[in-house]
Amino acid sequence: MTRKIIIDTDPGIDDAMAIFLAFNAPQLDVLALTTTFGNVAVELATKNALILSEVAGVNVPVAQGVAVPLVAAPLPPPDFVHGSDGFGNINWPAPKGQADERSAAQMIVDLVHQYPNQVTIVALGPLGNLAKALALDPSIAELVDEVILMGGADKEPGNVSPVAEANIINDPHAADIVFTASWQVTMVGLDVTHRVMINDKFLDNIRQADTDKQCGEFLYQATQFYFNFYQQTFDIEGCYVHDASTIVYAIAPDIFTTTPGVVRVATEGVAIGQTIVATPGKHYAVNFWQDKPVTNVCVGVDSERLLSLIATTFNA
Ligand code: RIB
Ligand code: CA
Repeated sequence: MTRKIIIDTDPGIDDAMAIFLAFNAPQLDVLALTTTFGNVAVELATKNALILSEVAGVNVPVAQGVAVPLVAAPLPPPDFVHGSDGFGNINWPAPKGQADERSAAQMIVDLVHQYPNQVTIVALGPLGNLAKALALDPSIAELVDEVILMGGADKEPGNVSPVAEANIINDPHAADIVFTASWQVTMVGLDVTHRVMINDKFLDNIRQADTDKQCGEFLYQATQFYFNFYQQTFDIEGCYVHDASTIVYAIAPDIFTTTPGVVRVATEGVAIGQTIVATPGKHYAVNFWQDKPVTNVCVGVDSERLLSLIATTFNA
């Protein structure tokens, strides 16, 4: 049986890889793309989501979501990582299609009710749409199969501050709402995504294998900018596989090792955006973690299997 997923996204070069992977995976049925600010402004994220579905030749609804964080001051879009078009400045032609009239939060609520207990939300950006959907209809927490999110870090340092990962620091209040709601959350954070890397050759193989669509060519072109960022900033050849790792988790969770943890998010001060993971049931002198839901925190990954699953899904 295929797994029904909604992808909440801020495309984004690595979001593009995740979305193409999901479209290509026979194990998944992508019900909708919902968009958020993050790597780019939300209007551009929506345009980019439409471009990705058209490049892949997939007819899937796209719904636009939140433009700013719930409470925190917005951070500027990281155009030095993803380019000003979000796709490494490749200036791909505008999409022909249009977004759904509903908001992302409404789309999530509607689909969860249409398919009770069958929908997994895979979140690849800041978490405002999920928080808004919960506010719109709190009953969805009991009706969602699982939330798999790329974000946060337990033992691994952050990538925006020494402790904060990008998707969480972009809307820390929303992230705290998502981690403390009564649905099953799996956190695919930097502890695992920093263990998985791809390089130019890996994407070239996908490009060569993709003879009937333009996904491989698109990914290859867009990722050159991302590779340059990694080269110049970290002196690394290649890049980490952030967002696509969540899609792999949705297909084959046994590629990861997880540990139960109660996750709270620092919403202000020098630690803003930090995901603070407590041992379930352990008594602390302060009660921020007490009686909160337990998250599945990814702490290990079989990188070879993960990369092989991506390659085979793209027939490479
Ligand atoms: O920290 C990695 C995350 O931030 C990914 O979702 C990537 O797209 C960036 O926005
Ligand atoms: Ca993303």
